[in-house]
Amino acid sequence: MLITLADYERAAAESLDVGVQAYYFGGAADEVTLGDNEAAWRRLAIHPRMLVGVSQRDMGVKLLGRERKHPVIVAPTALHGLADPAEGEIATARAAAATESIVCISTFATKGVRSVAEAVPEASRWFQLYVFNDRGVSRELVARAEESGYDVLVVTVDLPVRGARERELRTPISSELAHAPATMTPAEFKALIDAELRWSDIEQFAAETKLPVVVKGILTPQDARLAAASGARGVVVSNHGGRQLDSTVSGADALPAVVDAVGEQIDVIVDGGIRRGTDVLKALALGARAVMVGRPVLWGLAVAGSDGAKHVLEILLSELDAALALAGAPRATELDRSFVGPAPWA
Ligand SMILES: Cc1cc2nc3c(=O)[nH]c(=O)nc-3n(C[C@H](O)[C@H](O)[C@H](O)COP(=O)(O)O)c2cc1C
Repeated sequence: MLITLADYERAAAESLDVGVQAYYFGGAADEVTLGDNEAAWRRLAIHPRMLVGVSQRDMGVKLLGRERKHPVIVAPTALHGLADPAEGEIATARAAAATESIVCISTFATKGVRSVAEAVPEASRWFQLYVFNDRGVSRELVARAEESGYDVLVVTVDLPVRGARERELRTPISSELAHAPATMTPAEFKALIDAELRWSDIEQFAAETKLPVVVKGILTPQDARLAAASGARGVVVSNHGGRQLDSTVSGADALPAVVDAVGEQIDVIVDGGIRRGTDVLKALALGARAVMVGRPVLWGLAVAGSDGAKHVLEILLSELDAALALAGAPRATELDRSFVGPAPWA
């Protein structure tokens, strides 16, 4: 029975090729951070309020100056074609559109930004950029996203080199399944990610693009301040789903200090280990404007394509709706830190 995100995780594990499973599920090194991403939300207890009248509820949030129906964003994850070979990111975008979620398309998507835009024009689409040594390639990727109606440019800054994905080394993706991302031509794909990326580059991207820039992969208040000073309109507090530097702090634990540093100036988004509506509620209570959800959407795609991804998002949203009612915060924007505290059981 598929009634929770954990049910989708189990079902996806049964259905996926072992190499794809290692790629989707794995983290870096000892996977301490991977495990802690989920555990960190469980270390927070909710302090619910009663008798506030919760029959009318509103999950709406304001994000980058726009009203959104709810705070859930599909995180940029590479190669959706491994889960849904026919439709890839188009299936994901359909699921996002059906649930009024934002979908963030990765630089390493299996479907190009244009084809996703053409197939699902009604989806709210963000584009995630990895910056390459050849800045011409990066500019071209941004130009394509702008032309194709993407709303936001998310620049990921926590992957100057790849983390030590040991599961992937032990169980590689079989060569018949591996295929180059379609967002780039093969020549573009060969251009390597720039390990010399600096804040001045963020400033330059922010100045050059007409899209609002969000910097993804921030874990400290110092870097959040630098992002704001570089012209970013938001940051994603993220450790890349535990796939980069192992033993980094979780998004949940890093979030409050980042919100305190820049929350008044720019929008703070958080990701990593969001698996329940109560996790989303805790993130909002700590000051996040929105959350990104990575692996669960891939599990949905793997189990039942677009319908599976849609169901995963529906489950999360219906859990959030129930959590708002039961916590006595009928409007998501009313949540504040009085609703959460350290869990006595942790
Ligand atoms: C299989 C996989 C591929 C990913 N690919 C990208 C990517 O291309 N760009 C990026 O910015 N983040 C990427 N991420 C990180 C996610 O955007 C996100 O930060 C992370 O998955 C959130 O944690 P969660 O999976 O626990 O929800 C990837 C994550 C996974 C699991």
